[in-house]
Formats: sequence, C-alpha cells, structure tokens
Amino acid sequence: ADALKIGIAGLGTVGASLAKILVERRDMLQTTCGRPIEIAAVTARSKGRDRGVDLSAAEWFDDPVALAREARIDVFVELMGGAGDPAHAAVKAALSRGVHVVTANKALLAAHGVELAGIAEENGCILNYEAAVAGGIPVIKALRESLTGNTISRVYGIMNGTCNYILTKMEKEGLSFEACLKEAQRLGYAEADPAFDIEGNDTAHKLSILTTLAFGTKISADDIYLEGITNISIDDIRAAADLGYRIKLLGVAQKTDTGVEQRVHPTMVPLDSVIAQVDGVTNAVAIESDILGELLMVGPGAGGNATASAVLGDIADIAKSRPGAQTVPALGRPAASLAPYKRAQ
Ligand code: HSE
Repeated sequence: ADALKIGIAGLGTVGASLAKILVERRDMLQTTCGRPIEIAAVTARSKGRDRGVDLSAAEWFDDPVALAREARIDVFVELMGGAGDPAHAAVKAALSRGVHVVTANKALLAAHGVELAGIAEENGCILNYEAAVAGGIPVIKALRESLTGNTISRVYGIMNGTCNYILTKMEKEGLSFEACLKEAQRLGYAEADPAFDIEGNDTAHKLSILTTLAFGTKISADDIYLEGITNISIDDIRAAADLGYRIKLLGVAQKTDTGVEQRVHPTMVPLDSVIAQVDGVTNAVAIESDILGELLMVGPGAGGNATASAVLGDIADIAKSRPGAQTVPALGRPAASLAPYKRAQ
C-alpha cells in the first residue's frame, strides 16, 4: 500500500521523540498499520540542531503555514503549541484542503476547537488530539469512542504533569518550589512558558476539552474557576499530611442542576484514595458515567515519549482508516441545552 505521508510542524521535545520513533520503528509500524508511515516534510524553529534522527530525506519548510498549504502530505502533525498563529493558521490551512490533522496543542483546541472540528467535518477529514490531554493516557478515545451511549456526570483528575511533579518532589524530598520547577523544565515536562502549568491554565485548557466531549458544552476555558499551585508551601503540604490528606491540583467538571461546573484548584484528597497515590509526572483521569460506572485511568502525563506515544496512536488510526469512511466526530455535537457554569465573583 502507499505510504502515509506526514508533515511535522515543531521538532521540540515531543516532535523529536516522535520523529525518532517513526524512523526507528518503521518496519513494525508498517506491519501494524498495513502501510509505511513516511516523514515527508518538516518545519522547526532551529533547523541545524542535532535531534538524534536523520531527517535529511524530508522536505524542510521555514513556515509552518506553507508546509500545511503546500507540502504533499496526507497528515499535518502540529506540535508547535500556542493558541494563536502560526499553529491556528496552519491547522486551518491543512483541514481546509482536506488534509488530516493530529495535534497535541491543548491551548489551540481550548480556544478554537469547535471551529476546527467544524472545518474538519466540512472537508471530510480527521482531527485527532489524544496527546492534548493527559499525555499518553487515552482519555480522548475513551470519551469519543469507548463511552458512546453513556451519560457522563463527572470528569476529574490530575492533568498537569509539571504541577504533580512539583507537589510530589516538595513533599517527598523537601525541595523548594523553584528547584522542583527547574527540574520539571529540564526533564521536558513544562510548557515553554511554565506559568501555564503552575497557574493552572494548562489544566483548564485540558479540562475544557474534556468538558466539551463529555457534556456537549461549547469549549470555554474562560468559564473555569482557576487557581494554580504557586501559593502552595511545604508547610501547607505538611499540614495537609497531618490531617490525613495530600494536596493535588485537580481539574473537575460536573453536571449540576444549572449547567456544568468547571474548576481547577489545589485540592486536599484523602491519603488512602487512589488519586493521592498518583506521584510525579503521572496523570490520572476519572470519568463517572451511568452505564459503565467509574473509570479511572492513570499513566504518564507529560514528556517526549509519553506525548509522542499518543500522537503516534492518532497517526496510526489515520493510516488504518479507509478514505471516505465514516469517522468519529472530532468534538461531538454541542448540545445547546447545557448552559456553561458561570463562577460567582
Ligand atoms: N506541561 C504539560 C504538563 C505537558 O506538565 O502536563 C503535557 O501536556
């Protein structure tokens, strides 16, 4: 069968991991997907950097939007990040000409997800974004596919690896907040601007994507009550432990009588709960629904390989899909009856 030609925009931590895996496991992926996956085009801010993988066969573009518009590709893989351009313009350009898109960009989806899902549907192409929420945990697949027919009442969890890493290290090693954050950055967990992690915005972006899928509300990170972990001290962590609790940054979305309540804030969870045992960069997402009951998924939430694994799964889904076949709606169909929860000021 013909190779699936992909174009990768962004060769940072995730992009470089993905490129390496695609090259090193080419044969295995060909067997699994029934066709080879070929990196046909790439773009990155620094062209010369050694990423431990030979990309000389790919066509290099300076401009991600030009890659999305012009490259002869079947799939545009967006790993640049950022809610605005060039990520937004590039993803739009790809979908508008019927090129499938795989993205890990939660900020982009939180701002423009419904618009992009609409463009994908109009043009009969796939928009996959498993890596955008909770790294390698297949939570998007669970909501888009596995839980079909269930009515969901609550989604919550630990969705930012950097914050959970910091809170865990502060507690277990007594290190300062700043030292833990530096280490999370060194390990490739944190956002380019780590304020998005520690102030809770990254969790809010991810939560708004899950809320849209779970409850059919229109994505709105602005309607989320938001509090990060910047004010948490080692004394707070110790005081919580004395009372039998551990502090975790949770994102919670649940149905109420008036709509859907969404919040992100440090939460005291009982020491004997499963979520309290989730350490380091690990994420956990719980989904409560009426047919299945409570589903809890725990796994690596950030970092090159964890995120690349989810991106790869999304690409493989496209490689295995038949042209023109019915695909899963990118974001479900918003149900107008659910009013988003507004926080009391
Ligand atoms: N900065 C994010 C985190 C990366 O720490 O969870 C994964 O989305």
